[in-house]
Amino acid sequence: MKILSIESSCDETAAAVVEDGRTVLSDIVASQVEEHKLYGGVVPEIASRRHCESISQVVKEALQEADCEIDDIDAIAVTATPGLIGALLVGVNFAKGLAYSAGKPLIPVHHLRSHIAANYICHKDLQPPFMALVVSGGHTSFVKVNSYTDFEIIGSTRDDAAGEALDKAARAMGLPYPGGLYMDREAVDGNPKAFSFPNPKVDDAPFDCSFSGLKTSVVNLLHNAQQKNENICIKDLSASYLHAVVHTLTQRAQLAIDTYHFDKIVLAGGVSANSVLRKQMTTLCEKNGISLYYPEISLCGDNAAMVGAQGYYEYIDGHLSDLHLNAKATSSIDNIDAILPCL
Ligand code: KG4
Ligand code: ZN
Repeated sequence: MKILSIESSCDETAAAVVEDGRTVLSDIVASQVEEHKLYGGVVPEIASRRHCESISQVVKEALQEADCEIDDIDAIAVTATPGLIGALLVGVNFAKGLAYSAGKPLIPVHHLRSHIAANYICHKDLQPPFMALVVSGGHTSFVKVNSYTDFEIIGSTRDDAAGEALDKAARAMGLPYPGGLYMDREAVDGNPKAFSFPNPKVDDAPFDCSFSGLKTSVVNLLHNAQQKNENICIKDLSASYLHAVVHTLTQRAQLAIDTYHFDKIVLAGGVSANSVLRKQMTTLCEKNGISLYYPEISLCGDNAAMVGAQGYYEYIDGHLSDLHLNAKATSSIDNIDAILPCL
């Protein structure tokens, strides 16, 4: 089964053709990152406008590269939630129009489910159940993946997402957007023990995390140094901060292994590209004798191939939509009904 998939939840306009959820026939991404870099972060209105300008061409290229006509496609999958509402609406409305005109089934896909599904493309043998650590610019969650379409949240961030905490701290350090990526590069030859940061815990919710205190402490540290005219080594600060963020995640991952006895852990989302996170999770999983999976770098960030992968399993479970489908800025990974208008 061939699915044409579309993604426009943030600042990448993307389309792909994916066969049977695992084989990518084409994967086109038009990134807007250079433009948003000028503003130090994503400007939602600009993102929506660029999606409008690029989407027809991106979809056309995805079909061409897969050597397909629209008639060869069996269904159309689209990211419907969560994300920037104006950005999501471009993809959702394009997909609805195409599904209607071509007479194809329409599959709404949850963005975070698709980040997890990027792993099905890279690891052909990977099957649920497992625990997913979803770490992106907007979300940080420990998720019990019971089946391809059954998810339970074990813990989440109470404030900033891990990616957001990296991006905001990186911006304060004078690094470009996307900050997580540049901090990762700076940290390579920095000293992770040069600075110490708080390790906040949430009372009675051992799997939940909080990153806003960490972010504030790095901003205060930089302001103090500025006032005293002191120089801060950004490489050391990046390494220390990154290790503090990753420590919060690995601590909870260990607790999840001890509590739920998972034998597989899957990393997903833009921050899963991070070298410190990958290294420390590899050590943790080896120590516990369990398997670790993460996507190849090109599939960690936003792309449409992962939407086609998850879309396949949603289709199999009958999670289709009619043309009343609407985009939704926020929704939980465990509740597909929130985005499914009844068929
Ligand atoms: O999944 P994603 O592309 O978009 C969202 O759904 O949010 O994630 C974007 C996030 C940004 O916060 C970015 O700084 C972060 O992923 N990121 C990284 C790295 N590459 C991208 N964070 C840490 N290390 C990286 N190498
Ligand atoms: Zn994403």
